[in-house]
Amino acid sequence: MPLRRQGSSRKRHIAFFIEKLSPANIREAESLRDKTFPNPDNGEEQLLRASLEAVKYSNVLLRNDVETLSYRVAKDQSSFNVIGLTGLYTEIGDDPDNCWLGWFCVQERFRGFGIGKKLLDFSIEMAGKMGKKWLHVYTYDSNTFRPAINLYRKHGFEMYNESKAGGNRIYLKRKIDKGDFKRTNEIT
Ligand SMILES: CC(C)(COP(=O)(O)OP(=O)(O)OC[C@H]1O[C@@H](n2cnc3c(N)ncnc32)[C@H](O)[C@@H]1OP(=O)(O)O)[C@@H](O)C(=O)NCCC(=O)NCCS
Repeated sequence: MPLRRQGSSRKRHIAFFIEKLSPANIREAESLRDKTFPNPDNGEEQLLRASLEAVKYSNVLLRNDVETLSYRVAKDQSSFNVIGLTGLYTEIGDDPDNCWLGWFCVQERFRGFGIGKKLLDFSIEMAGKMGKKWLHVYTYDSNTFRPAINLYRKHGFEMYNESKAGGNRIYLKRKIDKGDFKRTNEIT
């Protein structure tokens, strides 16, 4: 039976939990990422693995200007399949108050049920726990990313100009407040 989206007369609640990216779930996470973001920049496709094996992939981190990175997957509570992905990274030489949201997505058939909102809340809280004051994200001004842009705006992100911006790339950031520390449904 097809899932029904929020706003329809028969809303379906999708129960899920969040856990750390691990050797046990990385293949599923990569598969979701590759379906969602099919054209990664050179070397970016190794960043999930680099988050688990920083020493082995130190050249990948360096090439991508990444200092630290940490990812989480959302798993459907009934099937235990990976249905979402989110992560935070910091950039080499960046202001230590900053961190960045990366590979944030929900599997297509599970979209529209509120999972993205919760995953974003979780990521904001994670950034706060890391002691960060700003969560940044870049995306693209296109219909593909319109839901994400709407979601970011509803969560208090604001667009800003960035000298590195090229083409239709846009940057958004959100201040992390004390009130953002509210929940944790992560199983580790
Ligand atoms: C962005 C994304 C993670 C949202 O996940 P989701 O589980 O569908 O999100 P939710 O159901 O929690 O919806 C949250 C908000 O997203 C926006 N949104 C969701 N679907 C939308 C759509 N089809 N059109 C416009 N906005 C939409 C709305 O603002 C919505 O809030 P509302 O329900 O109060 O209207 C998902 O659409 C996705 O994976 N997109 C592709 C990957 C992507 O763009 N990632 C971000 C890269 S920077």
